[in-house]
Amino acid sequence: MGEGLTTQALGRPDVERAAAQHRQYVDALRAEGVEVHRLPALPSLPDSPFVEDTAVLHRGVAVLTRPGAAARRPEVDAVRPALEREMEVQELGGPVDATLDAGDVLLAGRNLLIGISTRTNRGGAEALAHRLRAVDPELRAHVVPFSGLLHFKSGVTALRPDALVGDPRIQLGASLPAPVHWLPAAEGFAANVLPVNEALFVLAGSPAVASLAHRYAAKVVPLDLSEFRKMDGSLTCLSLLW
Ligand code: GLY
Repeated sequence: MGEGLTTQALGRPDVERAAAQHRQYVDALRAEGVEVHRLPALPSLPDSPFVEDTAVLHRGVAVLTRPGAAARRPEVDAVRPALEREMEVQELGGPVDATLDAGDVLLAGRNLLIGISTRTNRGGAEALAHRLRAVDPELRAHVVPFSGLLHFKSGVTALRPDALVGDPRIQLGASLPAPVHWLPAAEGFAANVLPVNEALFVLAGSPAVASLAHRYAAKVVPLDLSEFRKMDGSLTCLSLLW
């Protein structure tokens, strides 16, 4: 895991601690009634715990991504068979140089937000919007160039489809279709929240996100992912939910 890509300067992850945090994450999903399919470990692909980046799932269809970092592309083939057992799987398509990390994709109600980042380009964003609008013609695609953070969802996620939470370190190049609650800069790392059925998973260590989450969800589940954060990971990164 420590050999993976990161933009953080938080030191190397403690792998045993990371494994314990991952178990707590999986237990928390199961506690909300989610059936969890675990994929085999891939020791040669150190970013593979961040399974979210490999596909975008919507209405029974999985669109496989083409990660912007070449080192992460084999992860997609590793996830494909598990998705094929569960749903229709489509390729991203688009131009040959299209790239897309699903960490840059936020589905919030009828809004499909796609961040343009160092990992995701316009070709990838447009190819994804084309695929998903074929599945769900009511989706409204918003392409949002940004800087300051690795993935769009490192900096903006949805407390509810009509309410977003943000890290003020993200610099947005387009307006967003819902109001954003900006966290204090020192707690910006907690802008990645994960709704799971009736619960809202939040990162432990941010009183601001905890208090905000209680306004939007009857049940708030704080989780410590300190070791994943060292590798640019957070709550949404560790699963594909459908
Ligand atoms: N470590 C996650 C990523 O760089 O994509």
